[in-house]
Amino acid sequence: MLSARALTVPSLFLATLLAAACGGGGGGSTPDPDASAPDAGAGEGGDAGPRERRPLAALWGAPLLVDENPDPNVVEVRLEAAVGRATFDDKEIDVYTYNGMVPGPTLQARPGQKVIVHFTNKLTEATTVHWHGLRISDKMDGSPAIQAPVQPGASFTYEFVVPEAATFWYHPHVNTHDQLERGLYGAIVIQDDLDPLYDLERVLTLDDVLLDANGAIAPVNLSGLDALTGRWGKHFLTNGKKASLARAQAKKGQVERWRITNVANARKMPLEIVGARARLIATDGGLLARPMDLTGRRTLPVGGRMDLEVSYDTPGQARLQMYDADVPVTMFAVDVADAPEAPRAFTWPTIKPAIEGRPVSSNFEMTFDFQQNQWTINGAVSPMAPILTVPKGSTVQMRLRNTGGGVEHPFHLHGQFFRIVGDPTNALLDTVQVPDRGPVDIVAYLDNPGMWMAHCHILEHAAVGMMSEIEVLDTNGASQGGAGGGHGH
Ligand code: C2O
Ligand code: CU
Repeated sequence: MLSARALTVPSLFLATLLAAACGGGGGGSTPDPDASAPDAGAGEGGDAGPRERRPLAALWGAPLLVDENPDPNVVEVRLEAAVGRATFDDKEIDVYTYNGMVPGPTLQARPGQKVIVHFTNKLTEATTVHWHGLRISDKMDGSPAIQAPVQPGASFTYEFVVPEAATFWYHPHVNTHDQLERGLYGAIVIQDDLDPLYDLERVLTLDDVLLDANGAIAPVNLSGLDALTGRWGKHFLTNGKKASLARAQAKKGQVERWRITNVANARKMPLEIVGARARLIATDGGLLARPMDLTGRRTLPVGGRMDLEVSYDTPGQARLQMYDADVPVTMFAVDVADAPEAPRAFTWPTIKPAIEGRPVSSNFEMTFDFQQNQWTINGAVSPMAPILTVPKGSTVQMRLRNTGGGVEHPFHLHGQFFRIVGDPTNALLDTVQVPDRGPVDIVAYLDNPGMWMAHCHILEHAAVGMMSEIEVLDTNGASQGGAGGGHGH
């Protein structure tokens, strides 16, 4: 897993961390009330009249953010980050919470709706909220390179138009490796009227946490093994609770949609469904044109999502298993009662992906490396200038290389989607696991103008250098961040 040379642990990391704190330098930028996603709602057909709406599918396992705005086109919610307590392993421990809970409540909305989030920071440290995967304005993306972090006691209003249906999630983007581990994360479920209708939709947010001898969340250590492998916890959580407590009931013949997110700091999760029939139906960027039978394991990188269709063909127990090395861990189990119903057949609707395939306009190479005891992207530790600048609408084939030796890197690009070259599922993604040596070739659809973070989602790696930015110029030649964010990088 990690090379011998990597064991010469750099205490340099701490210094690097301080140097890497590039965020927050910008002056107090205020939320732009008119800021909305470019091209929001495009691709939804630009229908002449309002489409008939069916009620949103209920979500199991996820308390929702409460929409306080009666306007059907607006979802207006309150979100507060605070220090709190949670019971874990029969012990009450200190955690960070959104609206008093871990995970934070789920944001549920439809494509085309405007979302307004009145965010208040009751922590004792600065934070932002990043809407992982949503192709919205970079001013609303929570990047500390654009948005001045929200100071303790302060508020910020996030406002954006939801571009498309899929499973996303939200988390801080300041001191992320620590704030997220302490409990700051929540699911985002965007549902479209054209989505297939299941008997039930379940939100399953998977995490691992590292506890100390007292059962509390172990302190951050960016100079030790954590900085090399990332922080791998030994306690597994599903929806914020011990995974072994994640249980539910169902009946034979039912078919469900499971929306799974990996929110761990560093652990990639090989997942498998046992005791039921499963198909992969959606990834980071939404529904697949054609579902793929899931037999055996499929690895979910840190930050990634997979939506599974789970059919209970037989009574018994259906399980979501995650492999810790090769040891199966049950992350969720459903007791399936017998029933006369035969397995339900599902006709897959015609899916129009958020982005169609199109010819490549340019090529780019990104190299993830470990040089002089530091994690680097293209040879630099948290480079201050964008590593790539292209006009909006560019289709860039990127070769992701990993020359660091023995450690994998889940690459995440903010605000855009990409596909892996040769991927039979043709899935749209925002996060991809780059194995040792790589390379992985992706085609990125850089349609959303702005300054976008491009980083390793092993949060400890990102904290100490594996963090860069890609600039997508608007047609007038300015990136949104540069033009409106007022941030001197
Ligand atoms: Cu999940 Cu830079 O983000
Ligand atoms: Cu990494």
